[in-house]
Amino acid sequence: MRYLTFALGKGRLAKQTLAAFEKIGITCQEMKDKDTRKLIFVNEDLKLKFFLAKGPDVPTYVEYGAADIGVVGKDTILEEARNIYEVLDLGFGSCRMCVCGPEEAKTLLQHHELIRVATKYPRIAKDYFYNKKHQTVEIIKLNGSIELAPIVGLSEVIVDIVETGSTLRENGLSVLEEVCPLSARMVVNQVSMKMENERITQLIRDLKEVL
Ligand code: PRP
Repeated sequence: MRYLTFALGKGRLAKQTLAAFEKIGITCQEMKDKDTRKLIFVNEDLKLKFFLAKGPDVPTYVEYGAADIGVVGKDTILEEARNIYEVLDLGFGSCRMCVCGPEEAKTLLQHHELIRVATKYPRIAKDYFYNKKHQTVEIIKLNGSIELAPIVGLSEVIVDIVETGSTLRENGLSVLEEVCPLSARMVVNQVSMKMENERITQLIRDLKEVL
């Protein structure tokens, strides 16, 4: 039996994924050691390997087959647009991709004005405004703290993730439009899905039962 390799998006998502895996009897003791500098972890009995990667790199590892399976947010899947299969909604990490800004910006959206949109997700923002809303906008790519943009006058609105809404509230911004719901998803390499179909579909079935 060959190893099945998992790429997990670093952080909270990885922790929740491992907790779900534990429920179906997939454990990786090595990975729990907080002080370890190891990058790849092995479960010899089950012939599984795990590694942690930056979220946006997970679809890349899976597309190229360096990982058979990945767990990553739907936002990243949409933004990276890799050739991979999305096979399961894990349910956790749920939040929304939204157009946000000050209340005054609502009319700019309604009138399809040529506005500036700051975002960490230019592909998602472009798809939403151009293909769904048929509104021409200028998209400005930022790398974090997106809520700053309308406050300091860089853009009229932002496209960003809203979870509890507290970042928006504390900065005098609100949700103006909803783009799509998000959550953690399992993705699979297209060749692995054929070659390791039995093991992967069993894994999906087991996870569905405990989620
Ligand atoms: C995300 C997102 C929002 C915030 C939303 O940012 O970009 O800023 O969380 O969460 P809330 O609705 O619960 O307030 P993150 O903390 O990941 O950092 P970033 O701003 O650097 O992207």
